[in-house]
Amino acid sequence: MLHPQPSPMSAPNAVNEPTHRFPADFVWGVATSAYQIEGASTADGKGPSIWDTFCRQPGAIADGSHGDVACDHYHRLDADLDLIASLGVDAYRFSVSWPRVQPSGFGAWNTKGLDFYERLVDGLLARRLKPCLTLNHWDLPQALQDQGGWAARDTVHRFVDYAQGIQRRLGDRLASITTHNEPWVVATLGHETGVFAPGIRDRAVAMQVSHHLLLSHGLALQALRAAGAKAPLGIVLNLAPVQPATDSPEDHALAKLEDGRLLRWYMDPLLCATYPTDVLAHLGRDVPRIEHGDLQAIATPMDFMGINYYTRTVVSAGAPFDVKTSGLPLTDMGWEVYPQGLTELLLRLHADYPVPPLYITENGGAFPDPLRDGLVRDADRTRYLADHIAAVGEALRRGVPMAGYMVWSLMDNFEWASGYAKRFGIVHVDYATQRRTLKDSAHWYRQFLQRQRDGHAASARTGATQGA
Ligand code: FCB
Repeated sequence: MLHPQPSPMSAPNAVNEPTHRFPADFVWGVATSAYQIEGASTADGKGPSIWDTFCRQPGAIADGSHGDVACDHYHRLDADLDLIASLGVDAYRFSVSWPRVQPSGFGAWNTKGLDFYERLVDGLLARRLKPCLTLNHWDLPQALQDQGGWAARDTVHRFVDYAQGIQRRLGDRLASITTHNEPWVVATLGHETGVFAPGIRDRAVAMQVSHHLLLSHGLALQALRAAGAKAPLGIVLNLAPVQPATDSPEDHALAKLEDGRLLRWYMDPLLCATYPTDVLAHLGRDVPRIEHGDLQAIATPMDFMGINYYTRTVVSAGAPFDVKTSGLPLTDMGWEVYPQGLTELLLRLHADYPVPPLYITENGGAFPDPLRDGLVRDADRTRYLADHIAAVGEALRRGVPMAGYMVWSLMDNFEWASGYAKRFGIVHVDYATQRRTLKDSAHWYRQFLQRQRDGHAASARTGATQGA
């Protein structure tokens, strides 16, 4: 079934408000990551990260840009916290820049860097917002890359020390701690195709990296709990249903393998302490070195899992699948808008794995978003968000333990290899002035959350009357 193409006639009011009533304790949020918004790339003793280095490679970033200034969030913290609060969300998902707090990735801590995150966390709490912290959203200290990066087993132990340092300073005030954001992206795009930092192209290295990321996740969970962490602990994966372009046996076989590499390679060890045998067989000599006890460590029980969902993946054994042929609307990234894939994915995770409570930790779309007369009429984004929230509601109705949803992103930011041209924010950023403007989608999200709250308040009143 194809998703109907939106007609240009039906712009803003074509949004179908999700009809599901989400539980009162369902967590609604917005998300960002350090390198994409903070800027201040050398301020107050911050060390360089692999993204600082990668952005300097000619041709690495589409518009030749970098995160040196980005949204200048580091210097605009209080105003940005007010902005988040103005959206009426419950939670803010952000990441810590490891080289800002520990410039070399080991040894000395940078007090000023830690102070920044303390002000961030305390500022969220003061505004009654839940701080959801991610330890690794890709900006590994360059000093650790110089010693082999994630391909080196030693980095696993450096990461565990870093996690403990964050726990010591902030752990008592966090609503959740995520170890890694999207290990598939770090491994595959960073080390196999090389389109992301550190720009390595070697499948064997990529698989070793994926194993070390998973191992460091499990060992960090153990260390954090040993250090008394009370906040729920988990990991964030980028997942999608993988579909064959045609019904040919070759396309089906490829879809199964890609599902293995994207989803089962991560889900199987995290939840069942095993790697998928078909992928191991396919990798041959590129199978990573796995030491005794690693798989048990990786499967250390989690309190929650985060899923980032943007679109489906369609694979073809012949000519590459052309998204333009499917008739689905496309975002500015050229990604198909496919909300039903999110329900499908969540039902499948629930059916195949003993999943903990699940959060959608990222979901959103890039659209051109012109700012005209102080307004951004991003009806396409509002429709995208409404349809995906409805898809989550449907999964919840069908028994999947969904606990929250976060929009990617709070504001336009540095979109990695795509630079600044791709805008994912529900808040527009004018990079020349750093002025923030709520897009129509931000107003819609705020009003949607208010309607959810009004609904809960009304049922609480009815319940109270009935109970009396
Ligand atoms: C995800 C990343 C996030 C953002 C979105 C668009 O893969 O986690 O930082 O770039 O894609």
